[in-house]
Amino acid sequence: MPISFDVEKSIFSIETQNTKYCFQIVFGKFPVHLYYGAKNDAEIEGYKPEMYSFSPFYAEHGFEYFPDTCMAEYTGFDDGDFRTCSLKVKNANGDCATVLKYKEHRIFNGRLELPGLPFADVDKDCETLEMTLCDDVTGLIVKVYYTVFVNEDIISRYVSITNGGEYTVTIEKCMSLLLDIEGKNFDMISLYGKHNRERNYQRNPLFVGNQSIFSRRGASSHQFNPFIAVCEKNADQRSGVVYGFNFVYSGNFLDEVEVDQTGHTRVQIGLGSDNFSWLLEKGETFVSPEAVMTFSNSGFDTMTHNFHNFTRRHILPPEPFKKRPVVLNTWEACYFDIDEKEMLRFAESAKECGIDMLVMDDGWFGERNDDKAGLGDWFENRNKFKDGLKAFVDKVKNYGIKFGIWVEPEMVNPDSDLFRAHPDWCIQCRNREMMESRFQLVLDMGNPQVIEYLKDIFSKTFDGVSIDYFKWDMNRHLSQVGSSYLPPERQGEAAYRHILGVYELFRWFREKYPNAMIENCSGGGGRYDLGMMKYSTMIWTSDNTNPYARIQLQYSSMLAYPAATMSCHVSNHRLCSDPKTFNYRYHTALGGALGYEMHLPNAEQAIRDGVKEQIVNYRKYEDLILKGDYYAVLNPFVTNYSAYYYTNEDKSRILLSYLQYRPEEACEVVIPVLEACEDAVYLDEISGKTFTGKELIRGISVISENSECNSQMWYLIKQK
Ligand code: GLA
Repeated sequence: MPISFDVEKSIFSIETQNTKYCFQIVFGKFPVHLYYGAKNDAEIEGYKPEMYSFSPFYAEHGFEYFPDTCMAEYTGFDDGDFRTCSLKVKNANGDCATVLKYKEHRIFNGRLELPGLPFADVDKDCETLEMTLCDDVTGLIVKVYYTVFVNEDIISRYVSITNGGEYTVTIEKCMSLLLDIEGKNFDMISLYGKHNRERNYQRNPLFVGNQSIFSRRGASSHQFNPFIAVCEKNADQRSGVVYGFNFVYSGNFLDEVEVDQTGHTRVQIGLGSDNFSWLLEKGETFVSPEAVMTFSNSGFDTMTHNFHNFTRRHILPPEPFKKRPVVLNTWEACYFDIDEKEMLRFAESAKECGIDMLVMDDGWFGERNDDKAGLGDWFENRNKFKDGLKAFVDKVKNYGIKFGIWVEPEMVNPDSDLFRAHPDWCIQCRNREMMESRFQLVLDMGNPQVIEYLKDIFSKTFDGVSIDYFKWDMNRHLSQVGSSYLPPERQGEAAYRHILGVYELFRWFREKYPNAMIENCSGGGGRYDLGMMKYSTMIWTSDNTNPYARIQLQYSSMLAYPAATMSCHVSNHRLCSDPKTFNYRYHTALGGALGYEMHLPNAEQAIRDGVKEQIVNYRKYEDLILKGDYYAVLNPFVTNYSAYYYTNEDKSRILLSYLQYRPEEACEVVIPVLEACEDAVYLDEISGKTFTGKELIRGISVISENSECNSQMWYLIKQK
């Protein structure tokens, strides 16, 4: 059994295949964290109080328990622990004190559903510990949930908060996961960025104090990704202690790390307090989103594999097609300038090149001739598609390819029929100007009428049309966050309720069009998170399709998310036919799910032949990319190169990539393939050369060049 409770010692143990997590209920009341690390037989020592001057204590327990210096499991506020709190609630009497004490627990198979939220699916080995904590004075009941994903070395956490008292209270801060770690000499890895430059890798030493990454933008955002890692200073790909964290949520978040006087490091993942509060009436329950954590004492590779396996097995929806389709997307080639005739030229050239699907991007609906109008009016523009959407899609299908279409359900242009009819359906603060961004406003998805309107209009437009794929976009962040649907005392709930509405519509799309796949997008990778991955098979990695930018983006995304989630298009703005550049773009796109974003009908024959050949090659190893184990070798944020490989389980096939990130004076670059079988011989199908396993482990050597777009690939097959 992965979860157990030692009654004598009052110690809970949660075990995964390789890790162990323990905490104790001290004096039958106070949950105190003891251990999270490698699974071993060493006996777990119970809590030893540490006394620091100025630390409050309860007279009843004297110097035997100090909330401010122990490692905690989940904290209230003003409870004698001066470190950052997990939960802050404004009580009816005006104070914010919450003291949480253990009442009971239960351990059960599987897990509970999180109402309205995405959450990880369980397998037969999953178990859950539900620990109930109460505040004796206010009657607040907090249930802390630990679900264990044994085979992936992941433990997930979330809380439910019930008002068991007499009076209405307001939740002002809510975190899903707290982990206190012994020690303070760690680095923190996080991914920061902006539109067109998401997920840049940074590794910074922790300082004593509070450090955080966050989103206050209503979306998980381009600016920070919810994933973080806390690691030993000497941790590298294959050695050192690493703790990884992530959040199964797509809106505002706070990842905070606080190092304090005791030399402990407190990590918390949750909704935080900015743009969030929740009114809880007597008897009501609020459930937080789920956060996840993993532990590795063998460096980043293990953390990455745990997150990849977890995402593939417990988060991503089932693949609707036998093979992931290679798509041709129209955006960079046409922008808004599309109509039936042009789109059919795209369909024809897609077919000719062996592409599986045409994805018609923005511009097909309402008065959408540029980005200033039309969002919200989700019916086809008859000037562009004179016989309607269905007739057009049938013609695309006649080419024997699949069809995908772009939507941006959460948005509305002020210049649209929808806005003219329902200006009050937008996110807005009373009496304040609604600020536009990309000429658009955000619909208040927390208002059920908005959701009903969207379900209705999409049904009218899409029912009976053979759509295989939706590209679901979201192109601005939320400002002046308020809702005309909610009363004044509930305005702090608007951002969270908005995301619940977004998730409801996602679930509706999945149920209504079960055979269609959803590609998620928010101006590229602005919602590259586990919440979106629950509903969308892959995510448009970035609007930036420059291969150099993509090399970095893909490296950092892969730290936490599997390649199957990255949609990677070969783009070709100027229809450049230089084979070296074109090949480099293709080679970069092989980091994830391959697609194309170029004017294929106008491309010269050499390019079209090139695309055809590229797809034939991709098909040979796409299973390694989309399902294999990934190993990063060279980090393009700290070296001039990117090198990584994908392997299958028995290491009989290895796809190795080297991409020079910037030109430099020639020098030797060595790429060790440590996963190769030592005593085997491998044939590189691309060059025809053979390598012994030992040679691969020592490293393949390449010479870097003082020119652009250098790359090399090896497809290594183990010989019998
Ligand atoms: C966003 C997306 C692009 C494209 C445009 C359409 O920027 O990231 O891929 O779909 O919107 O307006």
